Amino acid sequence: MKTTTEKFGVTPHQPSLWTRADALKVRADDPTTTQPLVSADFPVLNNDVFIWDTMPLRDLDGNVTSVDGWSVIFTLTADRHPNDPAYLDEDGNYDILRDWNDRHGRAKMYYWFSRTGKNWEFGGRVMAEGVSPTAREWAGTPILLNDRGEVDLYYTAVTPGATIVKVRGRVVTTEHGVSMVGFEKVKPLFEADGKMYQTEAQNAFWGFRDPWPFRDPKDGKLYMLFEGNVAGERGSHKVGEAEIGDVPPGYEDVGNSRFQTACVGIAVARDADGDDWEMLPPLLTAVGVNDQTERPHFVFQDGKYYLFTISHTFTYADGVTGPDGVYGFVADSLFGPYVPLNGSGLVLGNPSSQPFQTYSHYVMPNGLVTSFIDSVPTDETGTQIRVGGTEAPTVGLKIKGQQTFVVAEYDYGYIPPMLDVTLK
Ligand code: FRU
Repeated sequence: MKTTTEKFGVTPHQPSLWTRADALKVRADDPTTTQPLVSADFPVLNNDVFIWDTMPLRDLDGNVTSVDGWSVIFTLTADRHPNDPAYLDEDGNYDILRDWNDRHGRAKMYYWFSRTGKNWEFGGRVMAEGVSPTAREWAGTPILLNDRGEVDLYYTAVTPGATIVKVRGRVVTTEHGVSMVGFEKVKPLFEADGKMYQTEAQNAFWGFRDPWPFRDPKDGKLYMLFEGNVAGERGSHKVGEAEIGDVPPGYEDVGNSRFQTACVGIAVARDADGDDWEMLPPLLTAVGVNDQTERPHFVFQDGKYYLFTISHTFTYADGVTGPDGVYGFVADSLFGPYVPLNGSGLVLGNPSSQPFQTYSHYVMPNGLVTSFIDSVPTDETGTQIRVGGTEAPTVGLKIKGQQTFVVAEYDYGYIPPMLDVTLK
């Protein structure tokens, strides 16, 4: 995609490409890029709800922030239905897997708090029923704005459509816990435009979600990352030389990979408050490689831009593959060019013996990576599984130049604050 427009003093850029050649370098089970095995006897945060995507409260620079000594996370959350006849199998037992797989349709934003950065206490729903304009409250980012406790929650309002929205509220603390007040007026920000970012009309399987606002450490402006697909009718995308990259002889055939069109989107704010946004061309595209680059986020380190995004095995295109997990790219400036970390892009994938053990990894600026447990095999053959819906053990990463290394493992759901704000 070529762009010539110059908007808001933002330099025009060419999207960087995650190529098929890059993806051919992905190696599952490399210990430096593989999440340690999650044991099937994991603890469950809360037996009444499933939780998955975890969104630590942070500031606009990316720092995970506690308030008055309380850590706060937001999670996508859905009720569990162990006693609902609709979720009983033929033998009358609770079909937890079906319940879990249905969760996206009833996802709601909840919050949790902790004094220790783990063992999260249940806070409750962030928005009252009826506040959010659509059926699903999908992932986003809670931003602590100031020492009055004001929070902008950016998230995705889904079904009907998919709109990036925000809602403002306040975090209030006492000696005994944390509550969220306000969060009553949801403001729509933008939707896919069909010119840069694919719309539902162009592809019923389109993705447009997961806002991650940030202040650029170099130019100080307010931007936002999000997940998208490259605009155009489904099936119309070209997987040419640029998308293929430098492949060995015999690897030129791209099969049906034109259907995989993920991109990492970026928008710039026209105002200081982030109420008015302009979409810019994608930072990174994966046409012919993968159909989903979800929950994109940055770590700013050593003057570099480390761009992380989660993806799945099932969303890879014909002829390329990789584990479910988090992938990364690095650049010296915000608009790239980005190169895949570790050559391939893979930063932390599931081991092939437990391909669905975790997902929705979020890399924090301290190198800690949180994720949730999806399902873990309970027998040798992997036919019996235990569904998670809870926090996975946190993993420690070392990020060094264009490489990353798994160096540590911590407790389940360990998300320590990087700074504390005392509320006035
Ligand atoms: C990642 C994800 C997000 C989306 C949410 C929906 O796990 O697919 O992209 O917002 O889950 O449940």
